[in-house]
Amino acid sequence: MDRGLRSLVDVVIAQTGLHYYDDKPEMLARLMETRIHACGCDTAEAYGRLLDHDAQGAEWRALESLITIRETFFFRDAAQFEALEHVILPRLLRERAAARTLRIWSAGCSNGAEPYSLAILVRRLLDSGLVADAARWTVDILGTDLSQFALSEARGHVFRPWSLRGLTREQISRWFERVPGEQLWRLRDRFADMVRFEHGNLLDVIHPCPKGPTFDLILCRNVLIYFTPARVADIVEGLASRLAPSGWLMLGHAEAGVAADRLAVERFAGAQAYRLGPVVACAGPRAVRAAIV
Ligand SMILES: C[S@@+](CC[C@H](N)C(=O)[O-])C[C@H]1O[C@@H](n2cnc3c(N)ncnc32)[C@H](O)[C@@H]1O
Repeated sequence: MDRGLRSLVDVVIAQTGLHYYDDKPEMLARLMETRIHACGCDTAEAYGRLLDHDAQGAEWRALESLITIRETFFFRDAAQFEALEHVILPRLLRERAAARTLRIWSAGCSNGAEPYSLAILVRRLLDSGLVADAARWTVDILGTDLSQFALSEARGHVFRPWSLRGLTREQISRWFERVPGEQLWRLRDRFADMVRFEHGNLLDVIHPCPKGPTFDLILCRNVLIYFTPARVADIVEGLASRLAPSGWLMLGHAEAGVAADRLAVERFAGAQAYRLGPVVACAGPRAVRAAIV
């Protein structure tokens, strides 16, 4: 690989946090070459200059969409969704009954299967009579991702069978409608309308305690596996600083454990989740740790 391309590979890894490519730079270089050619650039340096002057971010978005791994499906990791349905969400709904507001963030949401699975659960719990005045609740479910391609799929809420592979026929017909003449299923509007999507780079959460909103529940699953341990620690701190009092953080099955020394861990059958103490609203990393220890 020539030196220009090699140094651009490093820039792209640093910008996206995708250290997954650290030991396979050729793989990332090959993907980048398709963008270099698509943009009509003769050299990696020319493409680097194009990225430097990409004021609207359009080329960065195209590149990010190409190099991210978007594997996902509805109710991925059943044990985690069991814990969400039977413990975490019912507790949150009861605790938030006075305000009748629930804010959920799926960070690294891919094509939306994860936040839409949450929407299905929340809708079911609200309809079950668990809390009063279900119709007057405000439920805000946000999905963010680095890949603009994944986000446009998510906003369309039409899925191939691969995304539905964990579901029974009965669940599919209850939650989706078949697109006529196609092997595609459209999530019903009453669930799709509960979720909104935004572009977001997880590296941006590293700065803790923003003035922005906090969340009652954050899912960040199967994303941190692509980052270095140091980055993971910073991101987990950043996510913790965005939790509302007594809010929950759930990481991927393979990522569980990284937050154990920062947050209180609660274990369920085959799953675990992290929680801030009830009085810690939006503290910096040291204060969060101090409040829990
Ligand atoms: C393997 S998918 C996981 C999707 C879903 N959370 C799940 O568990 O099924 C990883 C997602 O993380 C996104 N991603 C990777 N790096 C990211 C970053 N720096 N910021 C935000 N999203 C990122 C990818 O685009 C991809 O959609």
